[in-house]
Amino acid sequence: MNAKSTQLIAQWIRPQVRALSAYHVPEVGNLIKLDAMENPYTWPTPLVDAWLEVLRNVSLNRYPDPQARDLKARLRTTLQIPQDMDIMLGNGSDELIQIIAMAVAAPGRVVLSPEPSFSMYRMISAFAGLEFVGVPLNANDYSLDMPAMREAIIQRRPAVVFLSHPNNPTGNLFDEQQVCELIEISPGLVVVDEAYNAFADSTVMPRLAQYDNLLVLRTLSKMGLAGLRMGVLAGSPAWLNELDKIRLPYNISVLTQASAEFALRHYDVLEAQAAKLRDNREQLLAALRVLGTMSKCGGDVQEPPLNGITVYPSRANFILFRVPAGHARRIFESIKAQGVLIKSMHGASALLADCLRVTVGTPEENQAFLKALEHAL
Ligand SMILES: Cc1ncc(COP(=O)(O)O)c(C=O)c1O
Repeated sequence: MNAKSTQLIAQWIRPQVRALSAYHVPEVGNLIKLDAMENPYTWPTPLVDAWLEVLRNVSLNRYPDPQARDLKARLRTTLQIPQDMDIMLGNGSDELIQIIAMAVAAPGRVVLSPEPSFSMYRMISAFAGLEFVGVPLNANDYSLDMPAMREAIIQRRPAVVFLSHPNNPTGNLFDEQQVCELIEISPGLVVVDEAYNAFADSTVMPRLAQYDNLLVLRTLSKMGLAGLRMGVLAGSPAWLNELDKIRLPYNISVLTQASAEFALRHYDVLEAQAAKLRDNREQLLAALRVLGTMSKCGGDVQEPPLNGITVYPSRANFILFRVPAGHARRIFESIKAQGVLIKSMHGASALLADCLRVTVGTPEENQAFLKALEHAL
Protein backbone atom coordinates (compact mmCIF):
# COMPACT_ATOMS: atom_id res chain seq x y z
CA MET A 1 0.00 0.00 0.00
CA ASN A 2 1.37 3.45 -0.82
CA ALA A 3 1.88 6.17 1.78
CA LYS A 4 -1.02 8.26 0.52
CA SER A 5 -3.53 5.42 0.95
CA THR A 6 -2.17 4.67 4.41
CA GLN A 7 -2.64 8.28 5.41
CA LEU A 8 -6.15 8.50 3.94
CA ILE A 9 -7.20 5.28 5.65
CA ALA A 10 -5.86 6.49 8.98
CA GLN A 11 -7.77 9.72 8.45
CA TRP A 12 -11.12 8.31 7.38
CA ILE A 13 -11.63 4.73 8.45
CA ARG A 14 -12.89 4.68 12.02
CA PRO A 15 -10.35 3.41 14.59
CA GLN A 16 -12.86 0.73 15.76
CA VAL A 17 -12.96 -0.65 12.22
CA ARG A 18 -9.19 -0.45 11.71
CA ALA A 19 -8.72 -2.40 14.95
CA LEU A 20 -10.87 -5.30 13.70
CA SER A 21 -9.75 -8.33 11.71
CA ALA A 22 -12.09 -9.49 8.94
CA TYR A 23 -13.99 -12.72 9.68
CA HIS A 24 -11.56 -15.43 8.68
CA VAL A 25 -12.75 -18.30 6.49
CA PRO A 26 -10.05 -20.91 5.85
CA GLU A 27 -9.18 -22.50 2.49
CA VAL A 28 -10.83 -25.91 2.32
CA GLY A 29 -9.45 -27.64 -0.78
CA ASN A 30 -10.16 -31.36 -0.53
CA LEU A 31 -10.46 -31.45 3.23
CA ILE A 32 -13.49 -33.00 4.92
CA LYS A 33 -15.25 -29.88 6.10
CA LEU A 34 -16.28 -30.09 9.75
CA ASP A 35 -15.54 -26.51 10.75
CA ALA A 36 -18.63 -24.40 10.05
CA MET A 37 -21.75 -26.21 11.35
CA GLU A 38 -23.00 -26.99 7.87
CA ASN A 39 -25.35 -29.85 7.10
CA PRO A 40 -23.33 -32.38 5.05
CA TYR A 41 -26.37 -33.94 3.37
CA THR A 42 -27.50 -32.87 -0.08
CA TRP A 43 -30.90 -33.31 -1.70
CA PRO A 44 -31.98 -36.39 -3.66
CA THR A 45 -31.71 -35.87 -7.45
CA PRO A 46 -35.51 -35.65 -8.12
CA LEU A 47 -35.71 -32.84 -5.56
CA VAL A 48 -32.80 -30.99 -7.16
CA ASP A 49 -34.53 -31.34 -10.55
CA ALA A 50 -37.81 -29.99 -9.16
CA TRP A 51 -35.96 -27.04 -7.59
CA LEU A 52 -34.22 -26.22 -10.87
CA GLU A 53 -37.62 -26.27 -12.56
CA VAL A 54 -38.83 -23.65 -10.05
CA LEU A 55 -35.80 -21.47 -10.77
CA ARG A 56 -36.52 -21.65 -14.48
CA ASN A 57 -39.64 -19.56 -13.87
CA VAL A 58 -38.04 -16.91 -11.68
CA SER A 59 -38.00 -13.42 -13.21
CA LEU A 60 -34.43 -12.25 -12.90
CA ASN A 61 -35.29 -9.02 -14.70
CA ARG A 62 -37.61 -7.95 -11.85
CA TYR A 63 -36.77 -6.79 -8.38
CA PRO A 64 -37.79 -9.24 -5.66
CA ASP A 65 -40.92 -8.78 -3.56
CA PRO A 66 -39.44 -6.54 -0.84
CA GLN A 67 -41.82 -8.04 1.71
CA ALA A 68 -41.28 -11.65 0.55
CA ARG A 69 -44.91 -12.32 1.43
CA ASP A 70 -45.18 -15.89 0.13
CA LEU A 71 -41.98 -16.95 1.79
CA LYS A 72 -42.94 -15.36 5.10
CA ALA A 73 -46.30 -17.13 5.05
CA ARG A 74 -44.53 -20.45 4.62
CA LEU A 75 -41.97 -19.63 7.31
CA ARG A 76 -44.75 -18.76 9.73
CA THR A 77 -46.31 -22.20 9.49
CA THR A 78 -43.07 -24.15 9.22
CA LEU A 79 -41.28 -22.43 12.10
CA GLN A 80 -44.50 -22.01 14.13
CA ILE A 81 -44.22 -18.27 14.44
CA PRO A 82 -47.27 -16.95 16.34
CA GLN A 83 -49.93 -15.30 14.17
CA ASP A 84 -49.76 -11.94 15.94
CA MET A 85 -45.98 -11.67 15.54
CA ASP A 86 -44.18 -10.20 12.54
CA ILE A 87 -41.34 -11.70 10.53
CA MET A 88 -38.31 -9.95 9.10
CA LEU A 89 -35.88 -11.65 6.75
CA GLY A 90 -32.16 -11.16 6.48
CA ASN A 91 -29.40 -12.18 4.13
CA GLY A 92 -28.38 -14.73 6.77
CA SER A 93 -29.09 -14.09 10.44
CA ASP A 94 -25.79 -12.18 10.50
CA GLU A 95 -27.52 -9.40 8.63
CA LEU A 96 -30.36 -9.30 11.13
CA ILE A 97 -27.87 -8.99 14.00
CA GLN A 98 -26.31 -6.10 12.11
CA ILE A 99 -29.68 -4.41 11.54
CA ILE A 100 -30.53 -4.66 15.24
CA ALA A 101 -27.15 -3.19 16.17
CA MET A 102 -27.52 -0.34 13.69
CA ALA A 103 -31.00 0.47 14.99
CA VAL A 104 -29.86 0.93 18.59
CA ALA A 105 -26.38 2.36 17.97
CA ALA A 106 -25.74 5.67 19.73
CA PRO A 107 -22.83 7.02 21.78
CA GLY A 108 -22.58 5.34 25.17
CA ARG A 109 -24.89 2.45 24.26
CA VAL A 110 -23.96 -1.09 25.24
CA VAL A 111 -24.53 -4.56 23.76
CA LEU A 112 -24.14 -7.47 26.15
CA SER A 113 -23.72 -11.19 25.70
CA PRO A 114 -22.31 -14.04 27.74
CA GLU A 115 -18.90 -15.13 26.49
CA PRO A 116 -17.65 -17.20 24.83
CA SER A 117 -20.47 -16.97 22.33
CA PHE A 118 -21.04 -16.25 18.65
CA SER A 119 -18.16 -13.96 17.68
CA MET A 120 -20.28 -11.74 15.42
CA TYR A 121 -22.12 -10.20 18.40
CA ARG A 122 -18.88 -8.58 19.49
CA MET A 123 -17.67 -7.81 15.99
CA ILE A 124 -20.91 -6.24 14.73
CA SER A 125 -21.18 -4.18 17.94
CA ALA A 126 -17.69 -2.83 17.29
CA PHE A 127 -18.39 -1.75 13.76
CA ALA A 128 -21.77 -0.29 14.68
CA GLY A 129 -19.93 1.89 17.22
CA LEU A 130 -21.44 0.17 20.26
CA GLU A 131 -19.60 -0.86 23.39
CA PHE A 132 -19.66 -4.64 23.80
CA VAL A 133 -19.77 -6.18 27.28
CA GLY A 134 -18.95 -9.89 27.43
CA VAL A 135 -19.91 -11.62 30.67
CA PRO A 136 -17.93 -14.85 31.18
CA LEU A 137 -19.93 -18.06 31.40
CA ASN A 138 -19.30 -20.43 34.31
CA ALA A 139 -15.97 -22.09 33.59
CA ASN A 140 -16.96 -25.61 34.59
CA ASP A 141 -20.00 -26.16 32.38
CA TYR A 142 -20.49 -22.96 30.34
CA SER A 143 -23.81 -22.26 32.04
CA LEU A 144 -24.89 -18.65 32.63
CA ASP A 145 -23.15 -16.94 35.55
CA MET A 146 -26.40 -15.47 36.82
CA PRO A 147 -25.01 -13.17 39.55
CA ALA A 148 -22.56 -11.69 37.01
CA MET A 149 -25.23 -11.40 34.30
CA ARG A 150 -27.68 -9.73 36.71
CA GLU A 151 -25.07 -7.27 37.87
CA ALA A 152 -23.87 -6.43 34.35
CA ILE A 153 -27.41 -5.93 33.07
CA ILE A 154 -28.39 -3.72 36.00
CA GLN A 155 -25.17 -1.70 35.97
CA ARG A 156 -24.62 -1.36 32.22
CA ARG A 157 -28.26 -1.21 31.03
CA PRO A 158 -27.56 -2.79 27.61
CA ALA A 159 -29.63 -1.71 24.64
CA VAL A 160 -29.48 -5.34 23.45
CA VAL A 161 -28.63 -8.65 25.09
CA PHE A 162 -27.79 -11.49 22.69
CA LEU A 163 -28.28 -15.04 23.96
CA SER A 164 -27.24 -17.85 21.63
CA HIS A 165 -29.48 -20.72 22.70
CA PRO A 166 -27.94 -23.32 22.24
CA ASN A 167 -24.69 -21.44 22.57
CA ASN A 168 -22.02 -21.41 19.87
CA PRO A 169 -19.24 -22.51 20.40
CA THR A 170 -19.97 -24.35 23.68
CA GLY A 171 -22.97 -26.34 22.42
CA ASN A 172 -25.05 -26.17 25.59
CA LEU A 173 -28.58 -24.93 26.02
CA PHE A 174 -28.98 -22.33 28.76
CA ASP A 175 -31.52 -22.90 31.53
CA GLU A 176 -34.82 -21.54 30.19
CA GLN A 177 -35.91 -20.10 33.54
CA GLN A 178 -32.65 -18.18 33.69
CA VAL A 179 -33.15 -16.92 30.14
CA CYS A 180 -36.62 -15.71 31.17
CA GLU A 181 -35.22 -13.95 34.22
CA LEU A 182 -32.68 -12.14 32.03
CA ILE A 183 -35.46 -11.04 29.67
CA GLU A 184 -37.43 -9.78 32.67
CA ILE A 185 -34.61 -7.73 34.17
CA SER A 186 -33.28 -6.34 30.88
CA PRO A 187 -34.12 -2.70 30.22
CA GLY A 188 -33.65 -3.14 26.45
CA LEU A 189 -34.08 -5.81 23.81
CA VAL A 190 -33.20 -9.44 24.36
CA VAL A 191 -32.49 -11.40 21.18
CA VAL A 192 -32.60 -15.14 21.71
CA ASP A 193 -30.61 -16.55 18.81
CA GLU A 194 -31.94 -20.03 18.08
CA ALA A 195 -29.64 -20.81 15.14
CA TYR A 196 -29.30 -24.42 16.35
CA ASN A 197 -32.96 -24.93 17.18
CA ALA A 198 -33.30 -27.93 14.86
CA PHE A 199 -30.93 -29.88 17.09
CA ALA A 200 -32.15 -28.67 20.47
CA ASP A 201 -35.87 -29.37 20.94
CA SER A 202 -36.30 -26.16 22.86
CA THR A 203 -37.53 -22.72 21.88
CA VAL A 204 -38.70 -19.48 23.46
CA MET A 205 -40.80 -18.67 20.36
CA PRO A 206 -44.09 -19.18 22.28
CA ARG A 207 -42.90 -16.62 24.83
CA LEU A 208 -42.89 -13.75 22.31
CA ALA A 209 -46.36 -12.70 23.44
CA GLN A 210 -45.27 -12.81 27.07
CA TYR A 211 -42.33 -10.38 26.77
CA ASP A 212 -42.41 -6.97 25.09
CA ASN A 213 -38.61 -6.87 24.78
CA LEU A 214 -38.01 -10.33 23.27
CA LEU A 215 -37.05 -11.11 19.67
CA VAL A 216 -36.32 -14.63 18.39
CA LEU A 217 -33.69 -15.14 15.71
CA ARG A 218 -33.55 -18.21 13.48
CA THR A 219 -31.60 -19.24 10.41
CA LEU A 220 -32.04 -21.89 7.73
CA SER A 221 -28.24 -22.22 7.49
CA LYS A 222 -27.85 -25.13 9.90
CA MET A 223 -30.77 -26.98 8.32
CA GLY A 224 -28.90 -27.47 5.06
CA LEU A 225 -29.31 -24.07 3.42
CA ALA A 226 -26.16 -22.24 4.50
CA GLY A 227 -25.44 -21.26 0.92
CA LEU A 228 -28.82 -19.63 0.52
CA ARG A 229 -28.33 -17.04 3.31
CA MET A 230 -31.72 -16.92 4.96
CA GLY A 231 -32.11 -15.48 8.44
CA VAL A 232 -35.47 -15.01 10.14
CA LEU A 233 -36.35 -12.61 12.94
CA ALA A 234 -39.67 -13.00 14.76
CA GLY A 235 -41.12 -10.41 17.09
CA SER A 236 -43.86 -7.90 17.71
CA PRO A 237 -44.94 -5.73 14.77
CA ALA A 238 -43.96 -2.62 16.76
CA TRP A 239 -40.29 -3.66 17.03
CA LEU A 240 -39.98 -5.09 13.53
CA ASN A 241 -41.58 -2.02 12.04
CA GLU A 242 -38.70 0.06 13.39
CA LEU A 243 -36.01 -2.43 12.39
CA ASP A 244 -37.46 -2.76 8.91
CA LYS A 245 -36.59 0.87 8.21
CA ILE A 246 -32.91 -0.10 8.27
CA ARG A 247 -33.22 -3.20 6.10
CA LEU A 248 -32.25 -2.58 2.48
CA PRO A 249 -35.45 -3.09 0.47
CA TYR A 250 -34.28 -5.93 -1.77
CA ASN A 251 -32.03 -7.80 0.64
CA ILE A 252 -33.55 -11.19 -0.22
CA SER A 253 -33.02 -11.98 -3.89
CA VAL A 254 -35.61 -13.58 -6.17
CA LEU A 255 -33.45 -16.73 -6.28
CA THR A 256 -33.29 -16.93 -2.50
CA GLN A 257 -37.01 -16.33 -2.09
CA ALA A 258 -37.95 -18.97 -4.64
CA SER A 259 -35.40 -21.48 -3.35
CA ALA A 260 -36.26 -21.01 0.33
CA GLU A 261 -39.94 -21.35 -0.39
CA PHE A 262 -39.28 -24.52 -2.36
CA ALA A 263 -37.11 -25.91 0.44
CA LEU A 264 -39.80 -25.18 3.02
CA ARG A 265 -42.33 -27.06 0.91
CA HIS A 266 -40.03 -30.03 1.36
CA TYR A 267 -39.17 -29.34 4.95
CA ASP A 268 -39.67 -33.01 5.81
CA VAL A 269 -36.43 -33.73 3.90
CA LEU A 270 -34.53 -31.14 5.94
CA GLU A 271 -36.07 -32.37 9.17
CA ALA A 272 -35.09 -35.95 8.38
CA GLN A 273 -31.53 -34.77 7.76
CA ALA A 274 -31.52 -32.88 11.08
CA ALA A 275 -32.78 -36.02 12.85
CA LYS A 276 -29.96 -38.02 11.27
CA LEU A 277 -27.47 -35.41 12.45
CA ARG A 278 -28.85 -35.62 15.99
CA ASP A 279 -28.25 -39.39 15.90
CA ASN A 280 -24.79 -38.88 14.43
CA ARG A 281 -24.07 -36.39 17.21
CA GLU A 282 -24.95 -38.90 19.92
CA GLN A 283 -22.68 -41.49 18.32
CA LEU A 284 -19.87 -39.00 17.96
CA LEU A 285 -20.27 -37.85 21.57
CA ALA A 286 -20.10 -41.44 22.77
CA ALA A 287 -17.03 -42.20 20.67
CA LEU A 288 -15.28 -39.03 21.83
CA ARG A 289 -16.00 -39.87 25.46
CA VAL A 290 -14.45 -43.31 25.00
CA LEU A 291 -11.45 -41.74 23.32
CA GLY A 292 -11.28 -39.21 26.16
CA THR A 293 -10.72 -41.90 28.73
CA MET A 294 -8.28 -43.84 26.57
CA SER A 295 -5.94 -41.28 25.12
CA LYS A 296 -2.35 -41.26 26.22
CA CYS A 297 -1.29 -37.73 25.38
CA GLY A 298 -0.43 -35.13 27.99
CA GLY A 299 1.49 -37.19 30.52
CA ASP A 300 4.02 -34.42 30.89
CA VAL A 301 1.40 -31.70 31.37
CA GLN A 302 0.50 -30.65 34.90
CA GLU A 303 -2.87 -29.03 34.16
CA PRO A 304 -6.06 -31.08 33.84
CA PRO A 305 -7.17 -32.92 31.78
CA LEU A 306 -4.10 -35.00 32.43
CA ASN A 307 -4.82 -38.06 30.43
CA GLY A 308 -7.23 -37.26 27.67
CA ILE A 309 -9.91 -35.05 26.28
CA THR A 310 -12.87 -33.45 27.99
CA VAL A 311 -16.03 -33.61 25.92
CA TYR A 312 -18.80 -31.08 26.53
CA PRO A 313 -22.46 -31.99 26.12
CA SER A 314 -24.09 -30.66 22.95
CA ARG A 315 -27.62 -29.74 21.94
CA ALA A 316 -26.37 -28.41 18.61
CA ASN A 317 -24.78 -29.87 15.46
CA PHE A 318 -21.24 -29.46 16.77
CA ILE A 319 -19.22 -30.64 19.74
CA LEU A 320 -16.69 -28.72 21.80
CA PHE A 321 -13.88 -30.68 23.39
CA ARG A 322 -10.76 -29.83 25.32
CA VAL A 323 -7.45 -31.49 24.64
CA PRO A 324 -4.50 -31.71 27.04
CA ALA A 325 -3.07 -28.29 27.86
CA GLY A 326 -0.70 -26.90 25.28
CA HIS A 327 -1.65 -29.41 22.54
CA ALA A 328 -4.57 -27.72 20.77
CA ARG A 329 -2.63 -26.23 17.87
CA ARG A 330 -0.62 -29.38 17.25
CA ILE A 331 -3.71 -31.61 17.39
CA PHE A 332 -5.70 -29.27 15.13
CA GLU A 333 -2.86 -29.21 12.57
CA SER A 334 -2.40 -32.97 12.75
CA ILE A 335 -6.13 -33.57 12.13
CA LYS A 336 -5.95 -31.15 9.20
CA ALA A 337 -2.89 -32.85 7.79
CA GLN A 338 -4.90 -36.08 7.87
CA GLY A 339 -7.57 -34.47 5.70
CA VAL A 340 -10.16 -33.15 8.17
CA LEU A 341 -10.82 -29.47 8.85
CA ILE A 342 -12.30 -28.65 12.26
CA LYS A 343 -12.10 -25.36 14.18
CA SER A 344 -9.57 -24.44 16.80
CA MET A 345 -11.15 -22.29 19.50
CA HIS A 346 -7.91 -22.04 21.44
CA GLY A 347 -7.04 -18.37 21.89
CA ALA A 348 -10.57 -17.12 21.16
CA SER A 349 -11.28 -16.69 24.87
CA ALA A 350 -9.65 -17.65 28.17
CA LEU A 351 -12.53 -20.08 28.74
CA LEU A 352 -11.73 -21.84 25.48
CA ALA A 353 -8.07 -22.59 26.17
CA ASP A 354 -7.09 -25.90 24.56
CA CYS A 355 -10.55 -26.29 23.01
CA LEU A 356 -11.41 -27.56 19.54
CA ARG A 357 -14.86 -27.63 17.92
CA VAL A 358 -16.02 -30.23 15.45
CA THR A 359 -19.19 -30.03 13.37
CA VAL A 360 -21.24 -33.23 13.27
CA GLY A 361 -20.99 -34.74 9.80
CA THR A 362 -22.05 -37.99 8.15
CA PRO A 363 -21.04 -41.21 9.95
CA GLU A 364 -18.18 -41.61 7.43
CA GLU A 365 -16.93 -38.07 8.00
CA ASN A 366 -17.17 -38.49 11.76
CA GLN A 367 -15.19 -41.74 11.54
CA ALA A 368 -12.48 -40.01 9.52
CA PHE A 369 -12.33 -37.27 12.15
CA LEU A 370 -12.19 -39.74 15.05
CA LYS A 371 -9.42 -41.71 13.39
CA ALA A 372 -7.45 -38.52 12.76
CA LEU A 373 -7.99 -37.34 16.33
CA GLU A 374 -6.94 -40.67 17.79
CA HIS A 375 -3.80 -40.57 15.71
CA ALA A 376 -3.13 -36.96 16.71
CA LEU A 377 -3.49 -37.70 20.42
C1 LIG B 1 -25.36 -18.49 17.12
C2 LIG B 1 -25.28 -18.13 15.70
N1 LIG B 1 -26.09 -17.18 15.22
C3 LIG B 1 -26.06 -16.81 13.93
C4 LIG B 1 -25.19 -17.41 13.04
C5 LIG B 1 -25.15 -16.92 11.62
O1 LIG B 1 -25.87 -17.71 10.80
P1 LIG B 1 -26.27 -17.26 9.31
O2 LIG B 1 -25.66 -18.28 8.43
O3 LIG B 1 -27.76 -17.28 9.30
O4 LIG B 1 -25.74 -15.87 9.10
C6 LIG B 1 -24.33 -18.41 13.48
C7 LIG B 1 -23.38 -19.04 12.55
O5 LIG B 1 -22.54 -19.81 12.86
C8 LIG B 1 -24.37 -18.77 14.84
O6 LIG B 1 -23.56 -19.70 15.34
